[in-house]
Amino acid sequence: MNQETGLSFRQRLAILFFILAVSSAAAGALGQQDSSDEVIDPGPRIGGVGAGGFLMGLTDAQQAQANDGAMRFVEPETFTGGLGPFYNSGTQRACGGCHAQPNVGGSSPSASAYPYIGPNPQATVDYNAYSATNVIPPFISADGPVREMRLVYFHKPNGNLNLNAPDGGVHDLYNVTGRTDNTTCTLPQPNFAQELAQGNAIFRIPTPVFGAGLIENIDDGTILANQAASQAAAAAAGIPIAGQVNRNGNDGTISRFGWKAQNKSLLIFAGEAYNVEDGVTNELFPTQRPTPGTTLPPGCLVNATPEDRSNPESAGVAVNSDVTAFAAFMRMLAPPTPAAPTAQTLAGQQTFSNIGCALCHTPTMTTAQSTEAAALSGVPANLYSDLLIHNMGDKLADGVSQGGANGQQFRSAPLWGVGQRVFFLHDGRTSDLAEAIRQHKSHGSEANQVIDNFENLSHRDKKNLLLFLRSL
Ligand code: HEC
Ligand code: HEC
Repeated sequence: MNQETGLSFRQRLAILFFILAVSSAAAGALGQQDSSDEVIDPGPRIGGVGAGGFLMGLTDAQQAQANDGAMRFVEPETFTGGLGPFYNSGTQRACGGCHAQPNVGGSSPSASAYPYIGPNPQATVDYNAYSATNVIPPFISADGPVREMRLVYFHKPNGNLNLNAPDGGVHDLYNVTGRTDNTTCTLPQPNFAQELAQGNAIFRIPTPVFGAGLIENIDDGTILANQAASQAAAAAAGIPIAGQVNRNGNDGTISRFGWKAQNKSLLIFAGEAYNVEDGVTNELFPTQRPTPGTTLPPGCLVNATPEDRSNPESAGVAVNSDVTAFAAFMRMLAPPTPAAPTAQTLAGQQTFSNIGCALCHTPTMTTAQSTEAAALSGVPANLYSDLLIHNMGDKLADGVSQGGANGQQFRSAPLWGVGQRVFFLHDGRTSDLAEAIRQHKSHGSEANQVIDNFENLSHRDKKNLLLFLRSL
């Protein structure tokens, strides 16, 4: 070898030093961040709110219906008007208090993020409105996410968990005790300290409803055809991704809303949310709701039920119920508008497909024909979800079953709009996209191999991937 190159040891050493010097100068030229392995989430995208408008081409009547729904979506509730006895939020801006970032209809607000929307109403106004005597739970703070709490198990009379009695239901954080508009109803709050100590409390943050009408109008056959195509692509790439539909137990069709794809339609979600989050009974959920496993004291049943209903017979009163108006508003909300692509975001988008993210986060599915609006008919929904539930492993598991979804399964979260989101994953455990990706990997998760692919990317590819996500 020495003879072939004709170079002395000293000459070869000089060349080696030269190469090292050139390559470290090149690395320096790439900038500060590239010298470390940590990839930094650029944070919520600035430069205009890309969500909250209505679909294009609505008729005047549809526009009026959507505007009416938008007003009701942010209308505060009162006790005599239907709020409570239990609620999570709603004394101030009702649905819109939780569905707020980056605009009405979105996800959890934050006190510290741009564009400024926050603070978390659960920590600032909901707990003590009208002099209510609630305490703020330890997992709620002004700059933390809005959270709803579910309990995994019921308790035995001695306070221990009853592992034979799965609960899974929402236990509202607040009640109307002490409010000036309530003189008859006194209730305890959940024992937060005990539930946390027993590891029995799990959390959910709001999922945004932009583009929800498109999600609602994707035919079951389209979801199943996409599932077959993704599974074939995963198998060809040697990636063991399964995924299954969560079917409605009664009519057998595919449900798709909520963190576990547990709910069938916007109307059903609106009816359930009105009852669960605000305590307002309605035509879909007509009985007043006690804490799961308890009975309401009579002083807490003040109104005849349902408190919200359609009024076909009364002149001068809106015919539509609130829940119908909420559903119409959500159905008419346009999907988030992504930022204009750049060379970096296009490269990131390519990486997103290459490493297998798109096997679960399907970039697009086409909607069926709609009787409601041309803008919902036969159009691409760029949702970045397969609407299937996947086993996400120990780390993300919450131990709660909903419909066909078990305690480890979650819906591939639609990624449209993540560019302007503050909190990520079902319980809002992180505000950092890179961390949200890493949390996909743990024992039992279908995403493990894809996350290994992510970790093996060059620093530049990871950065472009995050820039792509922040462009959505
Ligand atoms: C206390 C905060 C809070 C309030 C108030 C609230 N929501 Fe939500 N919303 C949530 C949470 C948390 C979820 C996710 C629930 C889950 O999947 O377990 C959610 C999910 C949804 C979804 C599902 C969207 C999807 O694609 O997954 C819809 C639809 C919805 N809410 C509508 C409403 C309506 C209508 C109201 C008012 C009646 C309302 N919400 C009030 C917290 C709230
Ligand atoms: C096996 C299916 C699967 C794969 C592969 C996968 N994801 Fe996910 N992703 C999910 C599920 C399910 C969730 C919701 C998990 C939860 O909240 O507990 C999620 C959540 C997310 C979130 C948070 C969204 C939100 O609304 O909070 C981001 C961001 C994300 N994924 C990006 C990625 C990227 C980037 C990749 C590729 C590196 C990827 N995912 C690969 C299934 C998958």
